[in-house]
Amino acid sequence: MDNNNNKIVVITGASSGIGLATALYLNEHGYHVVAGVRKPQDKEAVLAKAQFPARMLTILLDVTKESDLQSALASVQALVADHKEVAAIVSNAGIVILKGNISCEECPEETLRTVMDINFFGAVRFIQTFLPLVRTAKGTVVINSAMAAKLVIPFTAGYATSKCALQGWATSLRREVYAQGIHVVLIEAARASTNLDAKQNPEAVDQSKLYPMQRPFIKAFLESMASGKNNPHSSPWRIAKTIAQAIAAKHPKLHYAIGSGGHLLAFISLLPDRIQDWLINKMMHKMTSTSKLVT
Ligand SMILES: NC(=O)c1ccc[n+]([C@@H]2O[C@H](COP(=O)([O-])OP(=O)(O)OC[C@H]3O[C@@H](n4cnc5c(N)ncnc54)[C@H](OP(=O)(O)O)[C@@H]3O)[C@@H](O)[C@H]2O)c1
Repeated sequence: MDNNNNKIVVITGASSGIGLATALYLNEHGYHVVAGVRKPQDKEAVLAKAQFPARMLTILLDVTKESDLQSALASVQALVADHKEVAAIVSNAGIVILKGNISCEECPEETLRTVMDINFFGAVRFIQTFLPLVRTAKGTVVINSAMAAKLVIPFTAGYATSKCALQGWATSLRREVYAQGIHVVLIEAARASTNLDAKQNPEAVDQSKLYPMQRPFIKAFLESMASGKNNPHSSPWRIAKTIAQAIAAKHPKLHYAIGSGGHLLAFISLLPDRIQDWLINKMMHKMTSTSKLVT
């Protein structure tokens, strides 16, 4: 077991997927993990999965609730008082909305606000709350962004917008805390086998609307995500391991492109915008014409 016993890592969205894998992986590798979940039943469920329950504290932490953030801070401060230090915080909580009218033109403002409130403002609130403790330990801020911030996929109800905003904020943060010895790391996963997409069930979109293509495209997109479920490159454990490496590194990378096809997509994101537009348009037509799910 690694000698990380006095090191705390605080993580949001630890009930499932990448957050759960990361919490369990870090616990297995000696860290004292403070795992934030939203539902009371998940506190027990995550604790039951931990290899070293004595080093796993599960807390209720909804990143949209200031009261949750303050009681999470109090719990972590109590651990710090017990001769521990916050080696890292991992902002992981996030949602995607792939149902209803989700084109830029037709997506309701309320939907955009929901996505921004969790994926962007939730991350900002969490990091602002815990940054002073990270500073004391000269620790690492890990932000689970997405490849979608680099290569924007259309019809995602502001998911890419929230992650692009997060990238801009994180870049500013990194340059602000540069001289304080705090690392800021962006995880840019392309595709991970989690329930993030499976939680979505695209509802019928009125085909008379201006963008009838969004419905078959999203169905085809989810179908392609599902077909990649067994790809080891998409395993949330692989992303968890990368996050652990970033936390342990003396000089972590600023960006970690990971997940199935991550490097290819990162490369495409460097091509001129006109070429990207052409490729994405081609991909959308190919996906919608070959999808078994198109109705
Ligand atoms: N899966 C991918 O392909 C992929 C690719 C790139 C980036 N990512 C990013 O990875 C992160 C984790 O997603 P995942 O794929 O692991 O999906 P996931 O299994 O659905 O995990 C999302 C986590 O966020 C939590 N969450 C949702 N709303 C929250 C809130 N208001 N406050 C606190 N926690 C909240 C969820 O809790 P509940 O269980 O209570 O809902 C869940 O624990 C997200 O930020 C996502 O954007 C995922």
